[in-house]
Amino acid sequence: MWRALRRQGVLGINRRNACYTLAANDRSLFPLVDDKLETKRLCIEAGIPVPRLLAEARLHVEARGLPEALRNVESFVLKPARGAMGNGILVIHADGKGGFLRGERLVSPEDLVYHAAGIISGLYSLAGHHDVALVEECLQTHILLAPLSAGGVPDVRVIVYRGIPVMAMTRLPTERSGGRANLHQGAIGAGIDLASGRTLFAVHKNRSIVRHPDSDQPLVDVPIPEFERVLEIAVRATDRTGLGYIGADMVVDAVRGPVILELNARPGLAIQLANRAGLRPRLDAVDRALGAPDTAWQQALPVAERVAMGQAFSSRSAA
Ligand SMILES: Nc1ncnc2c1ncn2[C@@H]1O[C@H](COP(=O)(O)OP(=O)(O)O)[C@@H](O)[C@H]1O
Ligand SMILES: [Mg+2]
Repeated sequence: MWRALRRQGVLGINRRNACYTLAANDRSLFPLVDDKLETKRLCIEAGIPVPRLLAEARLHVEARGLPEALRNVESFVLKPARGAMGNGILVIHADGKGGFLRGERLVSPEDLVYHAAGIISGLYSLAGHHDVALVEECLQTHILLAPLSAGGVPDVRVIVYRGIPVMAMTRLPTERSGGRANLHQGAIGAGIDLASGRTLFAVHKNRSIVRHPDSDQPLVDVPIPEFERVLEIAVRATDRTGLGYIGADMVVDAVRGPVILELNARPGLAIQLANRAGLRPRLDAVDRALGAPDTAWQQALPVAERVAMGQAFSSRSAA
């Protein structure tokens, strides 16, 4: 699959690092996106919706208080502030009898404390450093996407380069992925046409598929709800960071609509497989339109105009 894509300008890891994640992203700004609490703060300041923070534990003694604090919460997500690739994320639902469930499995209060303690100790953090365990409201799958996700909430990843959205995919949880929509956990990736907001192709474990393995639902030509708004908040959140190359993760919540989950300064490259298209022609189109990359990127243009530019650059005829 990768071989076929090479002719279409696939971006490889070396070039991604040299020309984009290192060249366009000032290292001093990484803390804004490497820490999910920082990203939340930045979005809230900009009026961009994010999942509500229900609790946080920085110290082991605070972790011990979590089960009591969460006793009457119907559903929540416990995650490391500095985690990545879905590692260390627990999606929990109340069992109605005062207990906690992860999928079908019962999670005891001690398990919860133990997991939070592992997060605090740095078990899942990027560099193994001390971390913060945070608890968020559990978002709900939008009704249009419910048939396409098993046991978790799908997300939408958008790559934003110099303030322009260039490629998108939705990631759909499977029975295997434990409520998380990360490809590394076994989720499906489906590329999205930026102009129509409909899915184009889907991949699962690096192979093309056309139906969801758990529900047998078709994965192609599915409209993503409120997709224009998804692109808009991806761009607005990226604007706030000052970073030039970002993968924005969003969820279209059933009630709240699109919210920002997190921002990534080193987004993966498999999005190209899910779109059957390389990033390079689109990134080059951005550079041609904005001129040589200088210190910053083009924030001067209105967001709607930049969204329209990204849609034009990604059209099949332009690539
Ligand atoms: N608040 C939440 N509600 C429901 N699902 C969530 C929530 N937070 C994370 N998830 C699930 O876990 C996945 C990974 O979460 P994310 O915050 O992007 O962390 P990571 O940095 O590990 O990718 C999401 O794509 C989603 O499927
Ligand atoms: Mg993510």
